Amino acid sequence: MLNAASAERRLPAQGLGLPLVFHPRLDSTNSLAAELATAGAPHGTLVVAEEQTAGRGRHGRGWSTPPGSALAFSLILRPALPGGEARSRQLAAFNLVGAVALAEALEDLGARPAIKWPNDVLLSDRKVAGVLIEVSWVDQAIDSLVLGVGLNVYAEAEPPEAEVDYPATSVEAAIGFRPSREDLLVQIVGRIGSHCQRIDPPAIMAEVNQRLAFCGRRVSVRSGVKTWQGVLLAIGEGGEIILDVPGEGEVRIAGSDPHLRPLDVHTG
Ligand code: BTN
Repeated sequence: MLNAASAERRLPAQGLGLPLVFHPRLDSTNSLAAELATAGAPHGTLVVAEEQTAGRGRHGRGWSTPPGSALAFSLILRPALPGGEARSRQLAAFNLVGAVALAEALEDLGARPAIKWPNDVLLSDRKVAGVLIEVSWVDQAIDSLVLGVGLNVYAEAEPPEAEVDYPATSVEAAIGFRPSREDLLVQIVGRIGSHCQRIDPPAIMAEVNQRLAFCGRRVSVRSGVKTWQGVLLAIGEGGEIILDVPGEGEVRIAGSDPHLRPLDVHTG
């Protein structure tokens, strides 16, 4: 079991992580964090569960968190956001902070993570972590963000192939040893904290592009009812996927969460 008291002594990290709300078993850390945020919990509140019984992923998918082998946590953020256009750019950047922080923490362990647009983290083309960010509005203003992170740390956390829409892996499988979940938790929270202190949309986008999964490889991208196939070049400043499509040249595909898959599958 994760030692919550020991983790708590190492927090806050870069301004985030306290109070720490730990539960051995929860339906979803994002759901509890959203309830706590509505009840007024402060910026930086961290909700951690050893096991989730109804963990949630993007697009209404589930997220499995078996006990003893994974990390599942959610942070309540109450950033001071500007108004207008700048607000949507900053909000979009918050959506990327979790994946960049995860990638940095995994790099510290000697792994070579890639970010599958927009915010999945891959190791050897397999998904090791996912991020679910949920925004709570009051009138026209953002009251809080809940940034949820799920990470398969040990091999036992890898969901069976039949249960996922993308092949999964674990940190252990990639680095060949069992890292401390407590260390990873503190590291990732601290990395998120330091990005949140100076949220800079172009800088975050550059961090994503540096680690962009399938860059230079043939991919298929589905957005709405249309599908493109081409070589992935980069993600543009506004979050558009930039492809080199045979016969068409450079194509920019916008859309909030397009379906992106490599065509030259070489997982393993
Ligand atoms: C995805 O890849 O679809 C996002 C997965 C996000 C899972 C995490 S686990 C902690 C937090 N609580 C949830 O219910 N979901 C997020």
